[in-house]
Amino acid sequence: MSEHVRIYEVGPRDGLQNENMLIPADRKIELIDRLSRAGFEKIEATSFVSPKWVPQLADAEAVLAGIKRRPGTNYAALTPNMKGYERALAAGVDEVAVFASASEGFSQKNINCSIAESLKRFEPLLDAAKSDGMRVRGYVSCVIACPYDGPVAPEAVRDVAGALFDMGCYEISLGDTIGAGTPETVSTMLEAVLPGLPADRLAGHFHDTHDNALDNVAAALDLGLRVFDSAVGGLGGCPYAPGAKGNLATGPLVAFLERAGFDTGIDRDALAEAEQYLRSITKASA
Ligand code: HMG
Ligand code: MG
Repeated sequence: MSEHVRIYEVGPRDGLQNENMLIPADRKIELIDRLSRAGFEKIEATSFVSPKWVPQLADAEAVLAGIKRRPGTNYAALTPNMKGYERALAAGVDEVAVFASASEGFSQKNINCSIAESLKRFEPLLDAAKSDGMRVRGYVSCVIACPYDGPVAPEAVRDVAGALFDMGCYEISLGDTIGAGTPETVSTMLEAVLPGLPADRLAGHFHDTHDNALDNVAAALDLGLRVFDSAVGGLGGCPYAPGAKGNLATGPLVAFLERAGFDTGIDRDALAEAEQYLRSITKASA
């Protein structure tokens, strides 16, 4: 049997958060339902962040209330603080994600506080999640470079990833937010993180700004990572990271992994239908 790689589909969140136009909730729901049919184990459906900061995802409650939940798929959402966590809990998410940065500049621009303040803010959230039996994923952004501070030291990534893991995150997703990584810099960063955190607790989150996200996936696979984030249709970026063009696209990631002999469990025909639907809604809303 071939080895399994889990694809964490982040398009409805990391993709749609960056679209200029407001896409109505019913279209987001249809997109997520189509992604569910493709068999993803995890779909990041939305964010419970401040609607003033990310108006594109202000309809998070409506989206979660409208989707058809497929047994076997976990529906996740970003939660930056207790307010977001409580909204997510009430909306019935299966897991939440907190997000910190390895660089101070991005932390300030994205969540309006320092790295240390963000970790402090996550503490009550992780405590509440523990008593609610809610799984929490942790993101570290800017693991290679920051749009404000420039290159990021691998040790800074190691420290933030370690802190999130110690606080109780079950998995740490390492985000190359602006797609600055190369296989060499990604390997160097992972080699700093791996002695403290096992590869099976890490995920790679590569943006494809320079078309080398798949090469970065290959480098991370060589170092033992088996979870990768991607977005249907290569949607996305980050509103607070100028230059973060698109996420690694899910279709090419599935094809690449299967060519390399890994099993993803994704129904490629159903994924193609989700991609086609996405094209129709982004065109229709333009
Ligand atoms: P702030 O302005 O410092 O917070 O924002 P605040 O507590 O002063 O709140 C300001 C207002 O927002 C208040 O409303 C709050 O009630 C409200 P007002 O009193 O002015 O009417 N508010 C909320 N409303 C709904 N839900 C909430 C919430 N929290 C506060 N959860 C805050 C701090 C963290 C809230 C803000 O900066 C924020 O929402 N940031 C989110 C930014 C974001 O979503 N960025 C994109 C995701 S990260 C990313 O894409 C990277 C990633 O993909 C990995 C990678 O690629 O590297 C994950
Ligand atoms: Mg991202």
